[in-house]
Amino acid sequence: MSRKTSEPKETRITNHPILTFNRGKKVTFYFEGKPMQGYLGETIAAALVANGIKVFRYTEKHKRARGFFCAVGKCSSCLMVVDGVPNTMVCMEPLREGIRVERQHGRGKL
Ligand code: FES
Repeated sequence: MSRKTSEPKETRITNHPILTFNRGKKVTFYFEGKPMQGYLGETIAAALVANGIKVFRYTEKHKRARGFFCAVGKCSSCLMVVDGVPNTMVCMEPLREGIRVERQHGRGKL
């Protein structure tokens, strides 16, 4: 049995016993210059994780990797640079067509 590995595996939850997911139009956004696909109605964080991106930023002092943690805007683990704006909480920020998302290093600079 052979296994295809060229296509990214779909990691979005599509069926849930309690929650419903209303997926909008498919859009393209850019992560560190690389085009990726996501859906209107989901957060930037959800689209990144669905595309296999788990590291969102690095801490200032120890350069430790941080990613999706609380997913409800309480921990600041997911701060990224979105369209040039640092400290954007991507677990709360809706995905939009054509946005540019970058990993944040340290506190972020304006
Ligand atoms: S993951 Fe905790 S604030 Fe975004």
